[in-house]
Amino acid sequence: MLLSYRGESVLAALTRAGFHHLRDAPEDAAPRGAFCCMGLCQECIVQVDGRQIESCRQLVTDGLSVTSLKRRSDV
Ligand code: FES
Repeated sequence: MLLSYRGESVLAALTRAGFHHLRDAPEDAAPRGAFCCMGLCQECIVQVDGRQIESCRQLVTDGLSVTSLKRRSDV
């Protein structure tokens, strides 16, 4: 559970909590994280309530389920 502020993006809440590795690159599993922070690069995609979405474009709301897109072999 993360503490968040009203109007804060999922990316901001994750970054403040120390989560910078948001997904793995599909080709080589290199760690990926936020780059543009305005919805253009798609480096910050995570799974939010079952949908893949840019975490910088998703505002935090109560009860969101957020998971990274890391390769299962690394888990
Ligand atoms: S950081 Fe670029 S789309 Fe979110």
